[in-house]
Amino acid sequence: MGMDLDQGGHLTHGSPANFSGKLYEIHSYGVDRETELIDYDVVQKRAEEVRPKMLMVGYSAYPRVIDFKRMREIADSVGATMVTDMAHFAGLAAGGAYPSPVPHSAIVTTTTQKTLRGAWGGMILCREEHAKAIDSAVFPGTQGGPLMHAIAAKAVCFGEALKPSFREYAAQVVANAKVLAARLQERGLRLVSGGTDNHLMLIDLRPKGLKGRQVQDIADTVGITVNRNSIPFDEASKFNPSGVRLGTPSVTTRGMGPDEMREIGDCVADLIEGLEDRANLDRIRERTLDLARRFPLPYSLS
Ligand SMILES: Cc1ncc(COP(=O)(O)O)c(C=O)c1O
Repeated sequence: MGMDLDQGGHLTHGSPANFSGKLYEIHSYGVDRETELIDYDVVQKRAEEVRPKMLMVGYSAYPRVIDFKRMREIADSVGATMVTDMAHFAGLAAGGAYPSPVPHSAIVTTTTQKTLRGAWGGMILCREEHAKAIDSAVFPGTQGGPLMHAIAAKAVCFGEALKPSFREYAAQVVANAKVLAARLQERGLRLVSGGTDNHLMLIDLRPKGLKGRQVQDIADTVGITVNRNSIPFDEASKFNPSGVRLGTPSVTTRGMGPDEMREIGDCVADLIEGLEDRANLDRIRERTLDLARRFPLPYSLS
């Protein structure tokens, strides 16, 4: 049982298009229609109906904190193993800016290239009792020889995450997200669940009569990277959903702070207000170029 892809879950948590949905019997939970937050009483009820072997926790597009302790209580109450995919928020948890799922989960998985800010890769943490099964599922189950260069890159990533500067980074990612979200809202945009507690936010484009694909494509032409994303209870197609997702990890790495978040918020709001206005788009491109020039990618993070 995992979070529905349409409501913030990930493809690998049971989508019918993914191996997880093809190999396993999947049941999902989502968010409340009003609050757009996970309603733990509903998850509990659903778990009692389904009695899953595994409770998958984690998301790709949920802008809020998860109550991991409560999820574990739900898993325990139905005899399920709790697995948390912390891919999105691993760096925030490592830096102390988001609760850690590790004390509450039997197994924790993550990618290393998101908020952990490493090269593309993955990691599985588990309790001793699951170690043998996981090791043999990796090799010989699915993987051949290890990629030593990728393992070295993961070591560098974990080394960076242990530094005090990473704690500052994680805190700034979340602080920046709050400023960006507030600016977008001041400019009249509706955010799913009314804001953010982590590094990401979702703009609901329905009140503006727009769709995600068009906004994503035009944003690309003016130096703004967003990605189209379903919003909870979206009636539009997955291929052209009603939302876009934004995040602050990469701009924070470049050293941007609250002033720049307000500037980015204004660029995004101006874009959405004048998607077809050439002069507007030219002005936004100048502003994003100016930001990128003033905050170049750091050569070294340590
Ligand atoms: C929650 C979650 N798990 C796993 C992944 C998989 O990451 P990758 O793209 O490295 O396969 C993602 C990526 O979007 C994700 O959001």
